[in-house]
Amino acid sequence: MAGTYVVTGASRGIGLEFCRQLSKRGERVIGVTRSPAPALAELGVRTELADVTNPAQVAALGQRLAGEAVDVLINNAGVSSKANRLDDLSLEELARVFAVNASSPLVVTRAMMPGLRAGARRLIINISSQLGSITNNTGGSSYPYRASKAALNMLTVSLANELRPEGFTCVTVHPGWVQTDMGGPNATLTPPQAVASMLGVFDKLTAGDTGRFLNYDGKTLPW
Ligand SMILES: NC(=O)c1ccc[n+]([C@@H]2O[C@H](COP(=O)([O-])OP(=O)(O)OC[C@H]3O[C@@H](n4cnc5c(N)ncnc54)[C@H](OP(=O)(O)O)[C@@H]3O)[C@@H](O)[C@H]2O)c1
Repeated sequence: MAGTYVVTGASRGIGLEFCRQLSKRGERVIGVTRSPAPALAELGVRTELADVTNPAQVAALGQRLAGEAVDVLINNAGVSSKANRLDDLSLEELARVFAVNASSPLVVTRAMMPGLRAGARRLIINISSQLGSITNNTGGSSYPYRASKAALNMLTVSLANELRPEGFTCVTVHPGWVQTDMGGPNATLTPPQAVASMLGVFDKLTAGDTGRFLNYDGKTLPW
């Protein structure tokens, strides 16, 4: 039976490809973008507008979707940062990146909770990055990006623990190094490859997987 998926950051890159593959296989897809996205409209996917860092817009999104069951929420919207060295850092840049990558998935999740509770799968996917792995951080740099994704991983585990009694599955997922505006042309995976692999993983997730940090191929990543 078709499910309902809400995907943030659906205007381009990995989010757009999630929408493309999900709609192609007959799922009901709601793509969230901060401005109208022609590529998403071309797919015939329903678009809802919200800047994920704008609490009023996210709350309004929740109200527009009130009464609709949502099976899977994919918190995918994200930004990178050029602040690679201590001298590049500013509080403003740290706050900008944390707002999108770490805080917004929780705020969007909260707004979607009524729909998710009404859904059959109760699955929340936070798109993280292996750059958020503290264990794997041997190279440094990318301060705001790495720290924001590490924070997202921690928030995902807290969410998993809070929602475990309700049968939710909450995971944080590295999508691979993907050829998008963020990943660049030298990335090892195309969006179709990365998304096909991730959807294959998501389809098999159960409540027993909640709280895991997964690679795009389903393997466990170190925190
Ligand atoms: N590509 C990679 O190699 C890679 C690797 C690891 C993790 N990731 C993660 O994968 C996710 C998707 O990345 P991508 O490669 O597809 O990046 P992308 O091509 O740069 O796309 C980013 C998406 O996020 C949206 N977004 C950014 N800020 C937003 C905001 N405030 N409100 C709403 N939407 C916002 C963008 O919308 P606009 O079009 O409006 O800007 C766009 O749709 C991100 O979380 C990223 O950190 C990517």
